[in-house]
Amino acid sequence: MANVTFNSPLMEKDVTVYAIAGDTHTLLKVAQKNKIPLPFECEDGECGSCVMEVVYLSDKPRLGQALTEKERATLLAAGKLSKHDIHEAEVNDMPPSYRLACQYIVRDEDILVKFSGEPGVT
Ligand code: FES
Repeated sequence: MANVTFNSPLMEKDVTVYAIAGDTHTLLKVAQKNKIPLPFECEDGECGSCVMEVVYLSDKPRLGQALTEKERATLLAAGKLSKHDIHEAEVNDMPPSYRLACQYIVRDEDILVKFSGEPGVT
């Protein structure tokens, strides 16, 4: 089980939901199921509408997770990946702070998800 807290100026207050880690649902699906107004369009990692910032809240060390080539390319095009982020993602499988909700698989980690509500803007 992972606690996922959504934060956005679109919402009156933060909303925390319990997500079952490893059930292969994306964070976008978790948001949709819980009526969180996270923007999206393609649902395939290409448009960048669902970009969000992920803050890890667990005391445990972060779990490694490789970026898909599609997510990497979209985040790069949006200027959301620094050289350090790319190095960490490629060498250590440490995901960057900015992710695409439609590509992010929920893990057994408590996270805070921040999004502006404007497609492609964090
Ligand atoms: Fe298009 Fe996620 S909805 S990249």
